[in-house]
Amino acid sequence: MKATSILAALGVLVLVDAHGYLTIPSSRTRLGFEAGIDTCPECSILEPVTAWPDLEEAQVGRSGPCGYNARVSVDYNQPGEYWGNSVVATYTGGDVVEVQWCVDNNGDHGGMFTYGICQNQTLVDLFLDPDYLPTNDEKQAAEDCFLAGELKCTDVDGQTCGYNPDCTSDQACYRNDWFTCNAFSADTNRGCEGVDGAAEFSCTTTISGGYTVTKKIKIPDYDSDHTLLRFRWNSYQTAQVYLHCADIAITGSGSGSSSSSSSSSSSTSTSSSTSTKTSTATTTATSTCTAATSVSVKFNELVTTTYGENVYISGSISQLGSWDTSSAIALSASSYTSSNPLWTGTISLPVGTSFEYKFIKKETDGSIVWESDPNRSYTVPTGCSGATATVAATWK
Ligand SMILES: *[C@@H]1O[C@H](CO)[C@@H](O)[C@H](O)[C@H]1NC(C)=O
Ligand SMILES: *[C@@H]1O[C@H](CO)[C@@H](O)[C@H](O)[C@H]1NC(C)=O
Repeated sequence: MKATSILAALGVLVLVDAHGYLTIPSSRTRLGFEAGIDTCPECSILEPVTAWPDLEEAQVGRSGPCGYNARVSVDYNQPGEYWGNSVVATYTGGDVVEVQWCVDNNGDHGGMFTYGICQNQTLVDLFLDPDYLPTNDEKQAAEDCFLAGELKCTDVDGQTCGYNPDCTSDQACYRNDWFTCNAFSADTNRGCEGVDGAAEFSCTTTISGGYTVTKKIKIPDYDSDHTLLRFRWNSYQTAQVYLHCADIAITGSGSGSSSSSSSSSSSTSTSSSTSTKTSTATTTATSTCTAATSVSVKFNELVTTTYGENVYISGSISQLGSWDTSSAIALSASSYTSSNPLWTGTISLPVGTSFEYKFIKKETDGSIVWESDPNRSYTVPTGCSGATATVAATWK
């Protein structure tokens, strides 16, 4: 049993190391970690503040919308050598995209989280200038704008949006436009771990193992060749808020794609491939490294199956059977549960390889069910020797 669960059961409020950070799209913090500048990406903490039950009460102060990591004295509100100078993902207005953060096993404080886009470019530009650190007032003005530009859970058709079990209906936290974690004291899949129910170490944190927390957001119709996606997690257990930003671009929804005004299912497909493209390898941060020649890429696919149905990955490269379904790679259902229908497999692939792929289901009678179009695409990231990467996807 985890130490934190035992202490929580005793009603002791503990301040533990290691918490959470935005990983997909790659946040500035993640880039700082991968560059070896930040030794604890999950430790950018705004504290002590009122984080519960009023989710919007805390003023962001020096943390700003992009976070300040006091442990390493890095202020992510200002572009640095390794982050903030170029975008890590380009989305289309109206797209539904999968985003992910990583919570540490030893610091899963439960609570609620949200994403936002500030549609005031004048304000955002203050955070894109490598020669300028925004003032605390400017940081707060931007955060107010991100809260006004909240990307609501309920904006995504078919997405489950619940209320936090630790919040009562008379409290300000009783809202389902924000995303919620599971009950803090749940016996299994407690706190934010309970969102995906992914295996420990499904993403990288530095103190204990990380759990992915994956949700979908709808990108607003807003054009910008460089803006910010802000992630904010309000802790239930501790008086803390976690803030992170990723540098993104958004192209207008009317930009020629025949699917621009299509149903949510086809927007979802587009976005899955967009989000996987942005993932990069994660390694233990060291200042020097031996470049990897291959990367272990873990494919996590959420897909509900019936007994006898099996899930495979088929794709354009020989390692994935060159689209020959009889040579497709089988995924494992060893972590499958009805609430978290996870099929997973790890494949070693040469760095830099770009390919298209789909998940497929093989039925008991041998017939194949393909995911819907378009094909998913992925480029194996570069990284240090021993690098791993994770692709999180949901059947489409
Ligand atoms: C955008 O932010 C700037 C700086 O805070 C402010 O002066 C301006 O009024 C804002 N524009 C809009 C349209 O809200
Ligand atoms: C997916 O890839 C296959 C094999 O290259 C191709 O035949 C098919 O047209 C692709 N689908 C789309 C929607 O591009």
